[in-house]
Amino acid sequence: MFMFAIFLCICISVQLPAMATTTKPRVCIIGAGIAGLCSARYLKEEGIFFTLLEATNYVGGTWRYDERVGIDEFGLRIHTSMYKHLRTNLPKSVMELKNYPMPNEYPSFPSWDLYYRYIKSFVRHFNLKNYIKFHHKVISVKRIGDKWKVKHEHVASKEQFEESYDYVIIGTGHHSKPNNPYIPGENMFKGTIIHSHDYRVPDPYKGRRVLIVGAGPSGMDISLDVAEVSKTLVHSHHSKVNFNTPFPSHYIKKPDIQAFNESGAIFTDGSFEELDDVIYCTGYSYDYPFLDESSELTLEPQSITPLYKYMVNINQPTMLFMGLVVRACLVVVIDAQSQYAAALIKGNFTLPTKEVMMSEWQRQADNLKSSDRPLSHIHLLAEKEDQYYGELASQSGIERVPPVFFKIRTTDTATKLENLYTYRNYVYTVIDRENFIKHYEPILYIKKER
Ligand SMILES: Cc1cc2nc3c(=O)[nH]c(=O)nc-3n(C[C@H](O)[C@H](O)[C@H](O)COP(=O)(O)OP(=O)(O)OC[C@H]3O[C@@H](n4cnc5c(N)ncnc54)[C@H](O)[C@@H]3O)c2cc1C
Ligand SMILES: *[C@@H]1O[C@H](CO)[C@@H](O)[C@H](O)[C@H]1NC(C)=O
Ligand SMILES: *[C@@H]1O[C@H](CO)[C@@H](O)[C@H](O)[C@H]1NC(C)=O
Repeated sequence: MFMFAIFLCICISVQLPAMATTTKPRVCIIGAGIAGLCSARYLKEEGIFFTLLEATNYVGGTWRYDERVGIDEFGLRIHTSMYKHLRTNLPKSVMELKNYPMPNEYPSFPSWDLYYRYIKSFVRHFNLKNYIKFHHKVISVKRIGDKWKVKHEHVASKEQFEESYDYVIIGTGHHSKPNNPYIPGENMFKGTIIHSHDYRVPDPYKGRRVLIVGAGPSGMDISLDVAEVSKTLVHSHHSKVNFNTPFPSHYIKKPDIQAFNESGAIFTDGSFEELDDVIYCTGYSYDYPFLDESSELTLEPQSITPLYKYMVNINQPTMLFMGLVVRACLVVVIDAQSQYAAALIKGNFTLPTKEVMMSEWQRQADNLKSSDRPLSHIHLLAEKEDQYYGELASQSGIERVPPVFFKIRTTDTATKLENLYTYRNYVYTVIDRENFIKHYEPILYIKKER
């Protein structure tokens, strides 16, 4: 009886967030990147009322290249981390939004500008633009009573607005706030130091001695971009991954940095390199400055907890995070999560009780602890990606993402380790839900001669 009472109570708070059955749920979506846009598409399809607030004047979030760094004309931090020569690191077949394929003439790994065009065409196709309030930056989201009070500011006039919503969908991305390492002696170093968030073009590094720190996707990609023009490319990282890439002769691999001095860096093996410039490719931090304690979340630079199914705020299950995962086909995950969110708000299914959600989360957290892994890994999908698609579908009734997507990503990752210069020459064609073919098409990429 007691369990039943809890269950009933949760159902009501989830399914009927407004006062009575007569009131329709009101949803606030924050951010007009892929996450916000995808959510908008499915809410619109379900006829659910929503507002989409976007701080900048454009859609596409990080996919819109902006040559500026720092602060824009309204005093906003430039959000995008895009660089001029970027091509996707996943094949286009696993970066498409549901039933909206990229044009056939797009290469297998499109450049940022082609992908950005694709996002804009998606917005036109689903007629989403009129739902977006551009230049409205969310400054606070507070739980008051059974509503979310969302305060936002017009970035030019600074006029502030506040509205009440039943649900909040957060799609503000997590590749924008630099996670800087702070290495001893950094302030002494006479050269330049930037984070990859502010990397745009290799030109300033022509003929110079450049240190790249970190071997994640940005670290590897920017290393090759800079190495095209730099005199030396010193790459400091502790990745255990075996990169078989035939690096050029001026590429020098180093372990972690011990300290900087005026002229360069001393590494943990005792060696020293003279340097002109440093680029930290050390990843990003989660950044939700508009949330306070009423969200009942624990907000850390590298983790947001506790979340159910990587997206539902367990303590306030009318708050949903889109795309807050790593190591996955992020766009495909966002698409599935957006459908799940729409199905939830529509009332197609109800969430388990808070106790059940919490115990599932706790199991994940305990697993990490017992294997000595940091809490940040709670957002890692990696080998669990396909299973996750299955869980989302069976719980919410949305269509399951086909297993072939995960298979393509796994193959792409392996191919990338073989050779960072050539992995984008492969074309991946989906045959059916389980199978794909991969073939080599080298004409798409011509490596510049140094
Ligand atoms: C350099 C780089 C390369 C990448 N390459 C790939 C790739 O090849 N393949 C892949 O799948 N993924 C890639 N990604 C991951 C990428 O983040 C996702 O593809 C996708 O863009 C995530 O979309 P999003 O909507 O979550 O976030 P974003 O694209 O970051 O959009 C967030 C939006 O929220 C807005 N916003 C933020 N705060 C507020 C606020 N307070 N109020 C109102 N609006 C706000 C921002 O202005 C922005 O428009 C890459 C990321 C980077 C940085
Ligand atoms: C920095 O340290 C290295 C290695 O100890 C040394 O060779 C170099 O002269 C130092 N540079 C300066 C400017 O002190
Ligand atoms: C919700 O259920 C209805 C009826 O079964 C279905 O048509 C709709 O597509 C579902 N919505 C979502 C987002 O899954």
